[in-house]
Amino acid sequence: MAASPIPLHELEASIADPLAPTFFPPAAYTSEAFHEFELEAVWRREWVLVGRLEEVPEPGDWFSIEVAGEPLLIVRDDDGEVNAVSAVCRHRGMLVAEGRGRCERAFVCPYHEWAYDRRGRLIGAPQAAELTRRGIGLPRLRTELWHGFVFVTFDEEAEPLAPRLASLEPIVAPYRLQELRGDFTVDPDYRFELDHAWNWKVYAEGQNECYHCDKLHGDTPVMQATDCNSIAFGVMEPDNGLFHFELRNHAIDVTLNHVGRALLGAIPGLTEAQRWVTHTVVIAPGVLLVLMPDSVIALGYRPTGPTSMRVKRHRLYPQATLDHPRFAEVHREESVAVRAFVGQDEYAFARVQQGLSSRFAPRGPIAAREQVLVGMNRWLLDRYRAAEAAPAPAGPAAAG
Ligand code: FES
Ligand SMILES: [Fe+2]
Repeated sequence: MAASPIPLHELEASIADPLAPTFFPPAAYTSEAFHEFELEAVWRREWVLVGRLEEVPEPGDWFSIEVAGEPLLIVRDDDGEVNAVSAVCRHRGMLVAEGRGRCERAFVCPYHEWAYDRRGRLIGAPQAAELTRRGIGLPRLRTELWHGFVFVTFDEEAEPLAPRLASLEPIVAPYRLQELRGDFTVDPDYRFELDHAWNWKVYAEGQNECYHCDKLHGDTPVMQATDCNSIAFGVMEPDNGLFHFELRNHAIDVTLNHVGRALLGAIPGLTEAQRWVTHTVVIAPGVLLVLMPDSVIALGYRPTGPTSMRVKRHRLYPQATLDHPRFAEVHREESVAVRAFVGQDEYAFARVQQGLSSRFAPRGPIAAREQVLVGMNRWLLDRYRAAEAAPAPAGPAAAG
């Protein structure tokens, strides 16, 4: 049982009056102790997005990622299953591998060369072969696949993810997410992850509302082609941590690029009506999907400290777009436009974090167009309460 360093009744004041919701108190965005509490209450219990299946297409393909302070390896094994194991060597605690690559036969720890197979089982230990018969292995986490996305959880008892996401199916199905591929598959220099110096909730809140879109981003081609006043909230399930809204655009095939319109065709199978809207889907705590007519942006973010976070970015396209002879050229210009758009958010988030550390930091009202944030706070409060009521799950054990 962990007590919230910010008394829960203070946090609950944010949603106490349904007509006047507010943000959490500033300390929830700055306090080291509250960050530790959130790791236990949220990030070590919930399903966390770590990447895409096509990042590990073949047996032996792997990448590393850190979740809630834990270095992990995501690896495709010989049966084609995707495994998530701790990267911490069972000998002295060195990290067995970092980055991404193809594990030919075994992961060999650089320190004393203990070797682990693609499921994390110890299969070699120099001058200590008897250890390999003891069932030593890297602790394994539960994984779940959803439309080509790989999720992990430290909670052995967590409810499966897919049933919780059931009401998203009619929204996401037309985009055939499983068949889309990331721009990283064609760009060897792709940087998946970005580190930021603000609390993860500053980022989540900024990404999950469309109050600022036509203001902060008002000069961008995509927002000039989007009717933000058309916002319609669809799936809103605070109990499940699911939120969704759609925007109707001023034109067909509006997308986030340098001209605001898809240049290489729409996702096959979308109806004309679907090509006039943009869907935004939030899966708490750390997933944002923006479903556009030509591509899908998927962001997976998580905290790395009280005032720092990391986001893993994917932009997914149909194969026909990736194969298009003009893809490289269009993608280059598109990336510049995306960078500029994201830079506007970063400009704001950095200053919000600064403002929340001020003695004059507000505990401001949440606006109507920000109502996803009310639901998000409700969902978080449920997690905070549950953490106060019950001990954190033991988590996976080291296994063979
Ligand atoms: S720490 Fe990995 S083999 Fe010693
Ligand atoms: Fe934004």
